[in-house]
Amino acid sequence: MAQRPYIVGNWKMNGTRAMLSEARAIDRASQRLMKVEVAVAPPFTLIHATRKEAQQMAIGAQDCHAGSEGAHTGDVSASMVADAGASFVILGHSERRQNHTETDEMVKAKADSAIEAGLKVIVCCGETEADRDAGKAIDVVTSQLRGSLPVGGDVAERLTVAYEPVWAIGTGRVAADSDVAEMHAAIRALLLELYGEPEEDSEVRILYGGSVKPENAAQILSIADVGGALVGGASLTAESFLGIVMGATEAEEAAA
Ligand code: PGA
Repeated sequence: MAQRPYIVGNWKMNGTRAMLSEARAIDRASQRLMKVEVAVAPPFTLIHATRKEAQQMAIGAQDCHAGSEGAHTGDVSASMVADAGASFVILGHSERRQNHTETDEMVKAKADSAIEAGLKVIVCCGETEADRDAGKAIDVVTSQLRGSLPVGGDVAERLTVAYEPVWAIGTGRVAADSDVAEMHAAIRALLLELYGEPEEDSEVRILYGGSVKPENAAQILSIADVGGALVGGASLTAESFLGIVMGATEAEEAAA
């Protein structure tokens, strides 16, 4: 049996304590929508407070430093986010890669550090529009993942991959179903090469991200090997985020 669909809200640089009511509403509803695993990654400043609101959903961070402590003004380590209540961290998001010039090597170092601190990790990848137009999308994404994914031990049990075409993030544009299926199959083949056959029920989930909305969630989640969604803009209100969780529930029921 495959794992439950995993729907993760990435709040990015949004949210003050006024948004805790949204977190509470998402958590309460997720207790009734148990066919789907629900998680939210608020900004660092809200991790502790959202964790206190959450009885069912997981709380994560959107980044962490690769080091464990020291003279790194403004940075936050994996063990610090774990201490604040996070159980996972999103790493290598294209906004981090672009705005903070994060390389694959840096993402891998962060992933190793997060695993060491006991966190689960969601490693992001995705091609630009120019890469796709040049027919290089699969090469770019698999090369990013080869450089960014943690290896060794039982890391696969704590790993999720998020495929997010850069041109689909926050734009309202979504990749064609056939392109998503093709990319997820290529990522699956790479995961098999790196980690071998998974134990039953512990297959690494591959999320799709980029303009996922309540209106398109069930469709996207019914594509082969789409194990969930990483959601930005539509995760900021309980109403729209729960619309996506409902869509995932529908897709799960249809597949059963
Ligand atoms: P979006 O963002 O849903 O607003 O397109 C997705 C993401 O960046 O994770």
